[in-house]
Amino acid sequence: MPAKERFLSLSGRKILISAGPTREHLDPVRFISNPSSGRMGYALARSCRDRGALVTLVSGPVELAPPRGIHMVPVISAREMLAACRKAFSEADVFIACAAVSDFRPARTARQKRKKDGNEEWLLLKPNPDILFTLSRNKGKRVLVGFAAETQDLVRNAQAKLARKRLDMIVANSVSGGRGFGAKSNQAQLLLPGRPPEELPLMSKEKLAAIIVAKVARLSAERGRGGI
Ligand code: PMT
Repeated sequence: MPAKERFLSLSGRKILISAGPTREHLDPVRFISNPSSGRMGYALARSCRDRGALVTLVSGPVELAPPRGIHMVPVISAREMLAACRKAFSEADVFIACAAVSDFRPARTARQKRKKDGNEEWLLLKPNPDILFTLSRNKGKRVLVGFAAETQDLVRNAQAKLARKRLDMIVANSVSGGRGFGAKSNQAQLLLPGRPPEELPLMSKEKLAAIIVAKVARLSAERGRGGI
């Protein structure tokens, strides 16, 4: 980590972080989701807090203890996550979108547990809102950081997301072969507009979070105070 980033403060900066999976219910006891544990997002939240930021952590259902000194907003579905993020975004200087949001939800959610009726082909899906893309349309002076979870063409796909979602940085991680999701460590490449990718070695999610947050502190210092 460059020395000039190591000690940069985030004191007073309002940082919104999304973390964990979302659940999209088919009925009261079944849902579509993914194996995100929240570890990466919670590590980012602690690292931002330790640099003095005022952190709001919008989290899908995970088994982690809420970090101390952080404003927690628990949510279940993508639409709940969008509503909670929208609210915090209006005040935020920085948004780090680490959540693994389900891109689809069942077209209908049954009120009661669905019975077996011999008809196996009944599940219709519809798209969920893209939270990061939606909020990026009102970016203002905010610093926006996204993640890209890819199983192929990591850098090319991440670069497309960086541009489409108007991001200042994207953390590209390969999630093929059981990597990324749920693990205690992660291997990532950091992409900033117009710069060559910075490939990092495999490391703990705490260490990766510290590197990401150091870069966020520098971007935030360069940008000045955020807001609209
Ligand atoms: O939680 P862990 O077990 O620690 O695992 C960490 C992780 C693998 C979940 C994390 O490192 C990660 O990659 N998070 C992003 C997962 C993801 O959904 O990536 P994506 O490439 O599908 O999405 C791109 C970006 O848009 C992400 O910043 C995502 O938060 C955001 N997004 C995506 C879809 C959607 N509907 N709304 C969004 O905001």
